[in-house]
Amino acid sequence: MEYISVTGGRPLQGELWVSGAKNSVLPILAASVLCREECVIHGCPQLTDVDAALEILTQLGGKTRCVGDTVYVDASSIRDNHISKTAMATMRSSILFLGPLLARTGSCSLYRPGGCQLGERPIDLHLKGLHTLGAEIKWEEDHLTCCGKLKGGTVVLPYPSVGATENLILAALGGDSPTIICNAAREPEIGDLIGFLRTCGAEIDGKDTGTLRIMPGKLHGGTYTVMADRAEAATWLSAVAATGGSVSLRGIRPEWLSPVLSVYRIAGCRIRETQNGVALDAPERLKGAGVIRTAPYPGFPTDAQAPVMASFLQSRGITVFEETVFSQRYRHVPALKSMGADITTASSVAVVTGVAKTYGADMESTDLRGGAAMVVAALAGHGQSRIFGLRHIRRGYGDMTGKLRQLGAEIWEQQDEPAVLSQGGKHHEQGSTGATLRKTPAEGTG
Ligand code: UD1
Repeated sequence: MEYISVTGGRPLQGELWVSGAKNSVLPILAASVLCREECVIHGCPQLTDVDAALEILTQLGGKTRCVGDTVYVDASSIRDNHISKTAMATMRSSILFLGPLLARTGSCSLYRPGGCQLGERPIDLHLKGLHTLGAEIKWEEDHLTCCGKLKGGTVVLPYPSVGATENLILAALGGDSPTIICNAAREPEIGDLIGFLRTCGAEIDGKDTGTLRIMPGKLHGGTYTVMADRAEAATWLSAVAATGGSVSLRGIRPEWLSPVLSVYRIAGCRIRETQNGVALDAPERLKGAGVIRTAPYPGFPTDAQAPVMASFLQSRGITVFEETVFSQRYRHVPALKSMGADITTASSVAVVTGVAKTYGADMESTDLRGGAAMVVAALAGHGQSRIFGLRHIRRGYGDMTGKLRQLGAEIWEQQDEPAVLSQGGKHHEQGSTGATLRKTPAEGTG
C-alpha cells in the first residue's frame, strides 16, 4: 500500500517555483480540440488529471506528446465525438470537452463526469447554457447526447460557475453569431483560457469583467505558457505558516493569492511581494484569523480552504471557516481531529480552536485538497504521520513530497504492507511510528 510518510514539527524554509495550474491546463487541453493546427503548451504540470485529459484527446483521434513540461497537441485529426464512461469518470474536467466537441463536430456523446466528491456537483448550468446556444440535450440514464448547429445568444449564469463559463466560451466559438455570457466566472484560470484562445486567433472581449463577448471563428494553432497554480501556491504557504517557517514562492502573481495572503497577514505572518512572486515569514505560532468565507473569485478560494484550515490547528485563538461553494468540503476534518485538533463543524461552518500541540496520525485522503490538508497538518504535528489515498493527491500535485523536501520537510512516498485504518485516521502517540518505513530506492537517493 502506498502512502506519504511525514515526520512533523520542523519549520519549513526555502524557495519554490510554483508549477503550472491544473485548472488552467485542463480547459486549455479541452480547447485544443478547436484548433486545426498543432498547439504547444508550456508549463504543463505532471498530474494524473493532465494524463487523463491527454488520454481523452488521444481517444478522440488527436495526437499528443509530452517533452518535459511541454505538451504538443495536434487535434487536426479528431474525428470522434464520443467519450467513454471510463474516461469521463476519471475527473470532473472531462465535461469541459462537451462544448468544444459540440462546436467542432455538431454533436457529442458522453457520460456524467467523475472527480472529487465535494457534495452535489450538477452540470445543469453547462447544459442550460448550451441549450440557449441552440444545442439539443438528451439524457438516457447517465448517458448524455448533445447535438445541433450552435447559434450565438446571451446566456445569463445564475451562479458564476467556472466549468460552465469555460464550456460556454468554447461552445460559443462554434456558433454562427456572437455570444454574450453574463455573470461569467472571473477566476484567473478563465483569463488564462481566454489568453490561450486569443493566441490561437479567437476574438473574446471582457476578460476579468464577468461579462464576456465571444465572436465565433475557427482557431489555428499556437504556443502558450500556462499560469502558475494558485491552489498549489496556497498549499505551500499553508505548510510554511503551519510550521512557523519562511518561504519565497516564485512564478506566481501575488494578486492571485490576495485573499489567502490577507488571512496570513491577520494571523501574524510577514508578507512581501518579490520580483517574481511572494515571500512569507511565519511566527512560531499563528494567531486565529477570524472568519474565512469561501466565495467565487476574487473571494477566498474554496480550493485553499482545507490546507489553510490545517495550518491553524496549533494557532493561538479561533478561526471560523464558512464554505459557501461546495456543500461537502469538510471531509478532511475527522482526520485532522484524529491528530488532536479541536474542530467543530455544523453545516457549512467549521470552527477551529487552536491547541498547543497536535500529534502524528494515520490518515486516509478523501479528496485532492483534503489530502493536501492532511499533509500540511502532518508537517506541523509532532511525531510521524502516514497519509494514504495518494491517487487523490496526484491529481493535483506533481511530486508533492519532492517539493516539500526542498523546504527541508521530512516527507517521503512509501510503499508498505496494507495497513488497517480506523475511520477518520489513527492517532500516533508522539515518537511512535506504528509502521516500519522503507524509502523506495529512487527516493532513498534524494
Ligand atoms: C472549478 C475548479 C475547482 C474549484 C471550483 C470552484 C477546475 C478544473 N476545477 O470546479 O478546483 O474548486 O471551480 O472554484 O477548474 N454548480 C452547479 N451547476 C453547474 C455547475 C456548478 O450547481 O452546472 C455548482 C457546483 O455544484 C458548486 C458551485 O456551482 O457548488 C461551483 O462549481 P464550479 O464553479 O462549476 O466548479 P468546477 O468548475 O466544478
